[in-house]
Amino acid sequence: MGAPAFVVAAAAAVLLCGALARAQDMDKEWARPPYRGFFGAPGSMLPQSDVDLLEFPLNLEYLETEFFCWSALGYGLDAIDANLTGGGPPSIGGQSASLTPFIRDIATQFCYQEVGHLRAIKQTVRGFPRPLLDISAANFGKVIEQALNATLDPPFNPYENSVNFLIASYIIPYVGLTGYVGANPKLFTPQARKLLAGLLGVESAQDAVIRTLLYERGMTQVSSYGVGVAEVTAHISDLRNDLGRRGVKDEGLVVAPGQGPEGLTVGNVIAGDHLSLAYDRTPEEILGIVYGTGNPAQHGGFFPQGADGRIARGLLGV
Ligand SMILES: *[C@@H]1O[C@H](CO)[C@@H](O)[C@H](O)[C@H]1NC(C)=O
Ligand SMILES: *[C@@H]1O[C@H](CO)[C@@H](O)[C@H](O)[C@H]1NC(C)=O
Repeated sequence: MGAPAFVVAAAAAVLLCGALARAQDMDKEWARPPYRGFFGAPGSMLPQSDVDLLEFPLNLEYLETEFFCWSALGYGLDAIDANLTGGGPPSIGGQSASLTPFIRDIATQFCYQEVGHLRAIKQTVRGFPRPLLDISAANFGKVIEQALNATLDPPFNPYENSVNFLIASYIIPYVGLTGYVGANPKLFTPQARKLLAGLLGVESAQDAVIRTLLYERGMTQVSSYGVGVAEVTAHISDLRNDLGRRGVKDEGLVVAPGQGPEGLTVGNVIAGDHLSLAYDRTPEEILGIVYGTGNPAQHGGFFPQGADGRIARGLLGV
């Protein structure tokens, strides 16, 4: 739409100023979990800690499946392969999104990619039924209002058009991606690491596609809110950094001078640390983000009854 890149950069500089503490090296806090013997799906021999770390991302994969499939196709996992739901409750508020044919094509591919991920994980570990998920317009609207610190009129609706859908999509695979990066060094077995690398590769590719499509629309105004796409992504990333409570592990599409790759660009089509390595997040951080509470013991947001699996249930104290 013609506004020069430096305008975005200046806006981003104001937005991000003061929130630029570099992510600290968390490795020291990340001692490998204690070895507790072999469990897992029939035929597999995985230590319990690998099972737990592979089951945890099922929560996010279910969420992505439901959101992408509903948006693209107008139905969720129940209509694709009910077995994969494990009998979990239907998701709240899914609906077909109003998308251009090009974006619907991509969303459909993402939907089936997520179904594949569910199969891949469940072929390796037993897993758990789909938890209750809130993918309603109202819930996404709350996230965007929280990110922009404003009451939006009309409310943000991810299903309303392609730009809104892409912004909503910006919220999800990136969180899964950082979780995979964080889980990798904690896994014991090559079998578990191989699965995780396969999941990580495709999740990060999805994130890159979403970010690229949004980057191309960086100056597009979002609804009538008086903010552009790039600015909204910076706010969403800031919100995730706040909720994750471990410093900067998330960056919008345009960053302050000095924060892009090698400190040489303000364009930031892919998020990464000072060496352009993907950021990592722990399950605690991820749950704080997807619950919208900043607290893995306080469920809500996309998971009204909490996430499932030993890690999440343990953190909920149930
Ligand atoms: C679901 O599981 C049942 C029992 O294992 C099986 O007979 C059926 O073919 C499965 N359905 C699909 C769609 O995979
Ligand atoms: C959010 O907005 C309120 C009211 O406009 C303001 O008081 C508050 O400081 C804002 N919070 C942040 C984090 O900017």
